[in-house]
Amino acid sequence: MSHNAIESTLQENRTFPPRPASEFGFPKWHVDSLDEYKSLHARSVQDPEDFWRDEAKRLDWFRPFDSVLEWHSPDAKWFVGGTLNACYNCVDRHVQNGHGEEPAIIWEGEPLGPRTSHAAAGSNYAREPEVRVLSYRELQREVSRFGNVLKSLGVKKGDVVTIYMPMVPELAIAMLACARIGAAHSVIFGGFAPSAISERVMDAKCRVIVTADGGFRRGDVVKLQENVEEAINHLANHGHIVNHVVVLRRTGHVPPSQRFADGFHQGSTTWHWWQDQMARASEACPCAEMDSEDMLFLLYTSGSTGKPKGILHTTAGYLAFVQMTARLTFNLIPDSGQLFWCSADIGWVTGHSYVLYGILMNRIPTLMYEGAPNFPTLEGGKGDRFWDIIARHRVTHFYTAPTAIRTFMKWGDDLPARHDMSSLKVLGTVGEPINPEAWIWYHKVIGRERCPIVDTYWQTETGGHIGTPLPGAIPTKPGSCTLPMLGIDAAIVNEQGQELGPNQGGLFVIRKPWPGMLRGVYGNRERFISNYWGRVKDARTGQPCYFSADGARRDSDGYFWIQGRIDDVIKVSGHLLGTMEVESALVSHPAVAEAAVVGVPHEIKGNSICAFVTLRPHWLISHKREPDQSLKNELIAHVAHEVGALAKPDQIRFAEGLPKTRSGKIMRRLLRDVASGVEKITQDTTTLEDFSVVAKLRADEE
Ligand code: WTA
Repeated sequence: MSHNAIESTLQENRTFPPRPASEFGFPKWHVDSLDEYKSLHARSVQDPEDFWRDEAKRLDWFRPFDSVLEWHSPDAKWFVGGTLNACYNCVDRHVQNGHGEEPAIIWEGEPLGPRTSHAAAGSNYAREPEVRVLSYRELQREVSRFGNVLKSLGVKKGDVVTIYMPMVPELAIAMLACARIGAAHSVIFGGFAPSAISERVMDAKCRVIVTADGGFRRGDVVKLQENVEEAINHLANHGHIVNHVVVLRRTGHVPPSQRFADGFHQGSTTWHWWQDQMARASEACPCAEMDSEDMLFLLYTSGSTGKPKGILHTTAGYLAFVQMTARLTFNLIPDSGQLFWCSADIGWVTGHSYVLYGILMNRIPTLMYEGAPNFPTLEGGKGDRFWDIIARHRVTHFYTAPTAIRTFMKWGDDLPARHDMSSLKVLGTVGEPINPEAWIWYHKVIGRERCPIVDTYWQTETGGHIGTPLPGAIPTKPGSCTLPMLGIDAAIVNEQGQELGPNQGGLFVIRKPWPGMLRGVYGNRERFISNYWGRVKDARTGQPCYFSADGARRDSDGYFWIQGRIDDVIKVSGHLLGTMEVESALVSHPAVAEAAVVGVPHEIKGNSICAFVTLRPHWLISHKREPDQSLKNELIAHVAHEVGALAKPDQIRFAEGLPKTRSGKIMRRLLRDVASGVEKITQDTTTLEDFSVVAKLRADEE
């Protein structure tokens, strides 16, 4: 159990009622009272077809749909018979409706430019950052051109294109270009390592990769092109050919071995420069007419077993759900001076839904920032870049993760105090449970005890928010995601699918389909069913429920308190990681015989990774190595190389053997106890763990 869960079981009782819309200059809140929320929610789950038919009117359709839902559990088809295009709904329709000159994307790069005599208005820095603003018309032009680039490389409707890029406007352009021509995108977070890229490219059968020569992060260059090259070589050895790579020139820091001229062939792969290709591309690229249930994107997420899963989202349902959740959760109102900033990387689902699709569909400008919160780095590794960005751009909506909030809290109140953040109206949090202390700090120091906080609970699989306060309607309690989103029939049940009473811990399930739900795990029907639909049946109807893999309870007001994952995945700094992924990386090192990875509560990251490792004695002897710190460092570096820096274990502990039950299952609960308890007592972790005694004692428990 994480420390957040422990705190939330202490029954946080503080309640913060919604404030009048007029205080924020809104004519009204979209949902203005608890009663209004309750009646809307009741209608949305009792008559979902009627409810979603109305919501779908907010999208632009090429052909209207014939029926709202066809449900053959666990397969849902939403808005059947309709055709539309996601890019059209995010970009073209705004141009058509006379909003072409309005800002769509406001982007800020990480590096600060050359020293200028005057700082940017309101900035604390003597040097100006690089800022680009793209209007809807400019975005339409760029997206159309890149759509044509993709077509010229042979990309067709239904193909999957891998995108591995830094947080630059071209990332959004590439995604929208895929949507425009009817290809699905599969975005891989820039922090992943080459083998993680090849795994995902192979699984999705991608032939085209879009990347950049590098990206800026905390003053360093992330070597994206190099990683792609390594992944492609690896793929070629496994018989998978990537036909084309398009590389955006971003950092220019490319070693001589990686410089190439546009159209350079290496093996069966042709390398192109983004800029050269775009210079030649035409601006005429019609939006493909897509069926409601055509694939919009794949996004890989970690599971408890084996390889990451390609979560499949389709066009109309995802768009309908995401435009609604964005609009209601954040009270988005076009033409009212709003500027939305979600600090998540687009490589995660939060970025897909609330940097890009949900925000642009609502015609609200979205801010993208390329880099780290502590660049420029101040004394003690601190930074105030986020507050500087909020002040300079007059951000009205700020959406970030608890792990970031806890870091800012540690950095101290004086950093935000240096900046004028009076533009802020709504604050959001996402990705992991937020501990009440961090919530209160966010409320006081960033929100000036005024801005509502929306603690949004959801998953890659759900497409958008499934539990969240609506800022004008639902009183908040620090640490609770409050009540279900409209259209979400959520419950806490036991293993038998019986709904539990107040404050009884159980499984978080959804009992009815919703438009934003995943439609499958790419290429793995069995996993789709067993992971999400095979565990819990609704005791009242016998129907399979969607199970989120989170444990939670509901208090006497019906508020949800999410306690965290009950499967073998860990949330580290808000990033989902499978323990298996880290274990496989460890055992791929020749020194390692066996590995077991567990999450340990961590003050800032929520969880940290502790790996118990047994070594191969022969390898140690033949390589003249000891089970010492240098071997630990080598194993940590190995995991970073195999999966990515985000998966680096915080602790490696060598053990003689791993504790197992009689049936041979590793006793993770015991390991978790050992890891969280002993951690505080001693840093001397080079001694071998001897689990034999405890293991015997606990052998029957697990
Ligand atoms: C966790 C991220 C508590 C949860 C959008 C879920 C949360 C997993 C919250 C999905 C929240 C996300 N409160 N827990 N507000 N938001 N989670 O797929 O364990 O990266 O199952 O999607 O994050 O992570 P994913």
